[in-house]
This record gives sequence, C-alpha cells and structure tokens, in this order.
Amino acid sequence: MGAGVIGYAVAYEMAARGAHVRIVDPRGHGEGATRASAGILAPYIEGHSDALLQLGIASLNQYDNFLARLAADARLDLEYRRTGTLQIALDQDEVRELEAQAGRLARAQVDHSLVSTSDIARLEPGVASDARAGLLVPQHGYVGVSSLMTTLVAAGARRGVTPVVTNVEAVAATAGRVTVTTTDGDVTCDAVIIAAGSWSGGIATAGPPAPVRPVRGQLVQLHASPGALQRVVWGSACYLVPWTNGTVLVGATVEDVGFNERVTQKAVRSLRASGERLAPKLRMATFVEARAGLRPATVDELPIIGPSSTMRGVFYATGHYRNGVLLAPWTASVVADLVLTGTRGEGLDLVRPDRFGL
Ligand code: GLY
Repeated sequence: MGAGVIGYAVAYEMAARGAHVRIVDPRGHGEGATRASAGILAPYIEGHSDALLQLGIASLNQYDNFLARLAADARLDLEYRRTGTLQIALDQDEVRELEAQAGRLARAQVDHSLVSTSDIARLEPGVASDARAGLLVPQHGYVGVSSLMTTLVAAGARRGVTPVVTNVEAVAATAGRVTVTTTDGDVTCDAVIIAAGSWSGGIATAGPPAPVRPVRGQLVQLHASPGALQRVVWGSACYLVPWTNGTVLVGATVEDVGFNERVTQKAVRSLRASGERLAPKLRMATFVEARAGLRPATVDELPIIGPSSTMRGVFYATGHYRNGVLLAPWTASVVADLVLTGTRGEGLDLVRPDRFGL
C-alpha cells in the first residue's frame, strides 16, 4: 500500500524475486513525499543519530547495484551521480560546526576534506565568494527522483507489478491470509506491506494507527546554465542539487501544517533568497516550478519497518521522514527478505514497529 519510492522499491524487489505484487494507492504513483524530494544521498550530513547513519550508509552502499538492476529491467537511463557534497559555512559559528563534523568523520575514518575559501572558489566558482570554509564528502550524491520514479514504475511493470488506483479502508488478518478492504471491493492476499507514508495512520487495522505525521517540504526547481554548480551544495538555510541539464533544485522547507500540500509564495521567495545567498549566480536562473510534499515523520525520526506484532502477514515500511529516497534500496531488500524468507536483516532491530505498539 502506497506507490511512492518506498512502496514501489519494495514492490519491485519482491516481484523481481518472484512474488505476485499489486501496488495500491488512491492517487497513482509518486504523489506523496516523493513529489517534492530532491533525491540527495548524503548520510554523513543527514544521519543525525547513530541508527540513522548506520541505515543510511548501508543503503548508500546498495545504490549502484539497485539502480543498475532497475535501469536494466526498465531499459531506461536515470539521473544518478555521486558528485559528492560540499557543505558551506558562511559565518564563524558555521565554520566551528563544520570543523566539529570533520572531526567526527576523521574519527570514523570517512573520506572527507575541509577546504578553504580559495579551494571553494576553485571547486565551485558559483558559490558565494565570502564562504568561509567548506566540507567535501566525495561519496555522497543524488538521484533524480522523477526519473527514479519512472524507472521504478517501468521496471516494476516488467516484473509484473500491477498498479491499482483505489482507496484502502481497512486491513484485517485472518487464518493466515490478509484481507484488504478497498473502495472497489475486497482483495485477499498472503501479505500486505503498509508503505503509505504520511497516510499510513489512516489505514484501519486491528492494532493502533501507525504514528506517522506529515511534515511539509517545499522545493523550488530552477533552470540555470548547465555546469553552474558541479555538486550538491549544502548550506544552513537550503541545499542545491544541480542536474546535468542545468536544472537546480533548491530545498527545502520543514513545516508542521498537517495534510496541506499547497505551495506558498512565502516559501518560494525564501528558498530563492537562500539559494541566491549560497550561489549568487542563481539570480540569473529561471523559475520552473515549486512543489510540495509531505514527509512522513515519526517521533524518533527513524522509519517503521518490519512485521506487525499483532497481525500475521501485515508488515510496515513507512515513516522514512527525510530519508525515503536514501533508504529505498535497503528498505526494499530487508522487507523482501523478511516477507519472502522470514530472514531478519541487519538493522531491522533499530526500526521495529513494536516500539510504537504496532
Ligand atoms: N532529505 C532532504 C529533505 O527532506 O529535505
């Protein structure tokens, strides 16, 4: 349930291993958090807890292989570059934070370099000339999420994943089978995976609702000259993701506004201003569009992945908050292992549904 990046990655992986999979979503594919994701793959920036860092690194290590399989099945190319990230400090406090972060990376023996103002001018001439320091992490990168979604849908179709556009009302487990009640009738199956992101809590089950709350993210898409930036640039107020065709994504807001998926003028203005502060030449870039999506947040900011403790045949793969795209390959492989063979992959104990009574 849920045809976003997580639902589709799980569906694809399970179908590729021989399962018959239907993927159910009332709005079709990629309409939740996926819609406004910038696709940044940067666990050493976004891994704010040891657990999230561990899962992010594991998933990043699976990315090359996962996308190669997908692209081969879909017969499509997708935008994916391990350009590295350059985090920028614009004032002395931010320099101290970057130095502390570089110290942590050094202790963990992670490849990185702390660079000076003149290095930044050489590496990224588009970045503000008053940048005080930068932190390069070469193994980071990004994936173009629209091309990832298209590829997932095409690869899933080749493996027999059947999309069903309908509303799921309830899920009930009885006698080793699971019955899904939809607006268009009941469906019975061996297993259900709840991967409906922010909407996961609205699916009625015998247990408590999944404690996932929506956090809006707005993103602006600009068109600049190709090569205006070489790599993902991360600042304290925004991040910039440059695609090879000149697209630059500027993200993202973090807003507690419930199930409100509207784009606001205020966010567009503020993201553009932050983007131009970080890379002044973006003043010349043309506005393409702004998008909003709802990130599915949990209280501990870790996803909920694994079997329901109360309903046999029901599994969760939801609550990925800011990390759905990064964690998609790992989530797909651990869920497929769990559902198809009963194997509990490494890291699953960090994201157990029963920590929320599920
Ligand atoms: N992972 C970036 C974001 O959620 O804004």
